[in-house]
Amino acid sequence: MRVVSGIQPTGNLHLGNYLGAIRNWVKMQDEGECLFFLADLHAISLPHNPAELAANTREMAAALIACGIDTDKSILFNQARVPAHAELQWLLNGTARMGWLNRMTQFKDKAGKHREGASIALFTYPVLQAADVLLYQATHVPVGDDQKQHLELARDIAQKFNNDFGAGEEIFTLPDPIIPPEAARIMSLRDGSAKMSKSDPSDMSRINLTDDADTIMQKVRKAKTDPEPLPGEKAGLAGRTEAENLVGIYAAMAGISVEAVLAQFAGQGFGAFKPALGELLVTQLAPIVERFNRLRQDRDAIDAELRKGADKAAILARPTLERAYAALGLQR
Ligand code: TYM
Repeated sequence: MRVVSGIQPTGNLHLGNYLGAIRNWVKMQDEGECLFFLADLHAISLPHNPAELAANTREMAAALIACGIDTDKSILFNQARVPAHAELQWLLNGTARMGWLNRMTQFKDKAGKHREGASIALFTYPVLQAADVLLYQATHVPVGDDQKQHLELARDIAQKFNNDFGAGEEIFTLPDPIIPPEAARIMSLRDGSAKMSKSDPSDMSRINLTDDADTIMQKVRKAKTDPEPLPGEKAGLAGRTEAENLVGIYAAMAGISVEAVLAQFAGQGFGAFKPALGELLVTQLAPIVERFNRLRQDRDAIDAELRKGADKAAILARPTLERAYAALGLQR
């Protein structure tokens, strides 16, 4: 079992990242060999500030360690320190098809109406993501639901490359996405139809893992809801996207089922439910926030961890990269 996953170091780690992906990363550290990285190369696909990217990469590394990523168990690094990612992307660009990339919903969302002005990097972004996982022969990729389509593309690229250039051998392993059913898609606190996201202009839409207790309580109190009390059964949440989201967050945070949350709060309004949810979040996130605030002070220590991780990752990447060059008839 080889586990590989990444996160873009743009903005803060939020509850969607944590429940959708990072909590699974932490769990999987004890189940297989894990590589986790800051996708800084992906972050240049949109306009960015270089000084902020450098700072965010360190901060996000500190946040991941604070969440429980243990650098003695897992390999933690930033993509830019392992050039094999960019090299393999170029090799895979020969296999990925325009038609496949044209179907990527995230490109459509991020490019919006200004497709002509979008960067080439934004378009070929999913090919770099395929390189990220194929480079290490990943078998399991823990992600939130929004990355499923990118993972399917990685499988398509791997399959076509193996068919076209493998001469009967499997050069790349086909990776499986690991998506937590209870937290596949955490939604915005302001709009139950939009996912919780770093790029939402309203900070009230998300819980950041750096928020203090008062901020968390206030964001939950102001979260959009409806006037109905909570139902006793899951079916009663149908069509109530905001209510469904908050109950889902409670369930994921408490490690219990949605049914169990409803059994506890059936018939109660949000006036009772919201403070309970806020307190659960504050209690569970407090140790993470405290560790993060301590770790982020020591920039040199974070850089040293990332360099150490990158050295290990580069060694693991080498054999697959060399096989890919050779399979394509590229002499080195
Ligand atoms: P990113 O940085 O947007 O998000 C990191 C992880 O958090 C998950 N996530 C969510 N899960 C549930 N609900 C939400 N509201 C939510 N928001 C984010 C994402 O699904 C993701 O797992 N392209 C990737 C980074 C990447 C990557 C990779 C991932 C680059 N290379 C290779 C896996 C494998 C991204 O931008 O994730």
